[in-house]
Amino acid sequence: MIQEIKARQLNCKEFIAIQTAEIRAAVVSGTAINALSGGVDSSTVTMLGHLALGKKLRTVFIDNGLMRDKEPQQVVAFFKKLGVKVEIIDARDAFFAALKGIEDPEEKREAITQTFYKKVFGRIVRESGAKHLLQGTILTDVDETVAGIKRQHNVFAQLGIDPREAFGYEILEPLIQLRKDGVRKLGKALGLPADLFARIPFPGPALAARVIGEATPQRIETIRKATGIVEKVLKDRKAFQYLAILHSDRVTGMRNGKRDFGMQIEIRCWDSLDARTARPTRLPFGLLEELAAQILKKVPGVVSVTYNIATKPPSTIEAV
Ligand code: XMP
Repeated sequence: MIQEIKARQLNCKEFIAIQTAEIRAAVVSGTAINALSGGVDSSTVTMLGHLALGKKLRTVFIDNGLMRDKEPQQVVAFFKKLGVKVEIIDARDAFFAALKGIEDPEEKREAITQTFYKKVFGRIVRESGAKHLLQGTILTDVDETVAGIKRQHNVFAQLGIDPREAFGYEILEPLIQLRKDGVRKLGKALGLPADLFARIPFPGPALAARVIGEATPQRIETIRKATGIVEKVLKDRKAFQYLAILHSDRVTGMRNGKRDFGMQIEIRCWDSLDARTARPTRLPFGLLEELAAQILKKVPGVVSVTYNIATKPPSTIEAV
């Protein structure tokens, strides 16, 4: 049973002292690999890991082909300013090969998990001689996985999986007692600039969690474009999270006087504190029209745009 630390109880100074000591004690004189995706959780872990291990920590960003527009380059540039070197590993082919033909959400997550931890990190860890992988799992990831709601890509021990046996290395998870609001508080205390620790959450399986059905390079490109528009238009609304989803079923539309059996994009925008429950944000209708107009104009093949008005539960924040 993991002991939760609520954001308001969190004493950042004390927490940082305890966690850096634990990371040092685990890694001893070896090196560790740090998995950075650029999200709030992994960015906070990166700062914590660097504080604990300095040059003994090698931070990598896996380009799985499922990230948002220009995300790998932005993350590298961002951390460079903070004095942290980030290596980009191009693993796009491996991920798309693993996702080929898979439509089921949980199978998709499993394919991503195996490619990430076994194939890509397995190789990096083996080649580098490191024995530990540092990552930003938080309590909400664990809860939902254990409850069988969603198999979060980064949860193992609580499912009875020993990463040492399954992948050949140990996983360190210093944020596992926190939820998103606690991580943000910690990120701030660790010196992350506001535009990073205040970033909206983004799931580990990345845009593959936003495509219903097969995540092909082409379908990922469609959702990448729609995501860019949604993030830009909604960035100042102060919502907890906002996203676009590509549906697998098509609908009849018309373009230039001709039938166009096209794609459907669903927009979701959530008000939430910690992602456990959420309500759709009451966006002004004019803003929704603006989103629809931009998506229909700029994302080829889309003929329908909808806004989700269901709460979590029974919905979840992502669609896969
Ligand atoms: P759901 O969709 O389960 O999402 O309501 C709750 C929060 O978790 C994020 N999320 C994930 N994060 N790995 C992650 O690291 C995952 O597999 C994953 N799935 C969902 C989601 O974006 C939301 O903030």
